[in-house]
Amino acid sequence: MKIAILGSGGREHAIACQISKSKKINKLYCLPGNAGTKLIAENVKIDIYDFEKLRKFVEEFKINLVIVGPEKPLVKGIVDFLTNKGIKVFGPDKFSSQLEGSKIFTKKICEKYKIPTAKFGVFNNVKDAYKYLEKAKKPIVVKADGLAAGKGVYICEDTESSKKAVDEIFNGKFGSADQILIEEFLQGEEMSYFVISDGKTFKKFNTAQDHKRVGEGDKGKNTGGMGAYSPSGLINEDLDFKIIEKVIKPTFNAIKDMKGKYKGFLYVGLMIKDNNPYLVEYNVRMGDPECQTILPLLETDLLDLILSCCEENLEDQIIKWKSKKSMCVVLCAKGYPDKYKKNIEIPNLETITNNKDTFIYHAGTEFVDNKIYATGGRVLNFVNISEDLKESRQTVIQEIEKLDWANGFYRKDIGFRIID
Ligand code: AMP
Ligand code: GLY
Repeated sequence: MKIAILGSGGREHAIACQISKSKKINKLYCLPGNAGTKLIAENVKIDIYDFEKLRKFVEEFKINLVIVGPEKPLVKGIVDFLTNKGIKVFGPDKFSSQLEGSKIFTKKICEKYKIPTAKFGVFNNVKDAYKYLEKAKKPIVVKADGLAAGKGVYICEDTESSKKAVDEIFNGKFGSADQILIEEFLQGEEMSYFVISDGKTFKKFNTAQDHKRVGEGDKGKNTGGMGAYSPSGLINEDLDFKIIEKVIKPTFNAIKDMKGKYKGFLYVGLMIKDNNPYLVEYNVRMGDPECQTILPLLETDLLDLILSCCEENLEDQIIKWKSKKSMCVVLCAKGYPDKYKKNIEIPNLETITNNKDTFIYHAGTEFVDNKIYATGGRVLNFVNISEDLKESRQTVIQEIEKLDWANGFYRKDIGFRIID
């Protein structure tokens, strides 16, 4: 088979590594990929948001399957577009992708299907939002409705900052906004729960915990994710049952009732309190860096799973996992998530070799004239799997220190809540 993976992050490199192990593969393309995917696939510089160009590429190169990594093309409707042209594609359709593309869409489903989540209000003007905020208990959470690359969520300690958030959102900081969401602040611990679905049924696809804040001790600005581990320390049989029955099943029922087709990964972002799940957000894709911790634990052939979703026979698949734990630490460019330098060489990367339990997944890297350059804020993902998270973290840190990249920084405390 000829397969194309869309995206260029650590998640896509991890997917490419897993897919490349399949015996069914003849040729793997990454669009546009990074310096890591270049070692196992052919990178093709193509604008993945230009659907027509993408279609031409897929037809010309006789691609049998397109796997979509990031959310943006999904929310823009790439799956509907390619499916209508008779191209096999793994990812949810445009309608279902609203689960990530519109927080208000998701909240309305929660309300109708009684899915546990933070109490909320939707406002279409500043005056009503202000009035509500003046009386509301603090902290309070103000959210932009659409995709905002993780930046459209404000956790506000007082009325003044919450009003400022409302102003910023209505003034178009995250694109034109007709509505905003204000919700109750949930106490508890966060957990990422994943499933894979073929549109008829779904199966659990492990759990993880990520660290979104830039600083140690989970302090400072929000980022795309500074590291993660899998499985989550919070999961147990009772909680698993509640997540499936109270959150995931009603969501897929809602999508089916509204005639959406959900073939793909679903990332369920939860707050856990007293062993009860509350939905914080949905993402219509794998998490990044959660994907980089989960896939190395997978024993089943990922391509078989994805194909079974496309054929709608996921029911027949048994998903097997290694009984190990996995840790990922992200090496970032100094300055991230604010301003950081681009096109800085990463020397000696080739001296750090992957082995059966230790891997590097590239994120913002590019290969030019036999050298590897950092081109993004999150640059490399260092991963280790073992019986013990503390051991894995030590191994990962040793590897990062071996590289000794002068322009990089990372968090040494990933997993501190269950390790330290
Ligand atoms: P979201 O993009 O909706 O996942 O929000 C980003 C982050 O903000 C989440 O991972 C949580 O850490 C936090 N967050 C969002 N909504 C709430 C809430 N209602 N209560 C507490 N924390 C929240
Ligand atoms: N790690 C958070 C995300 O992928 O959205």
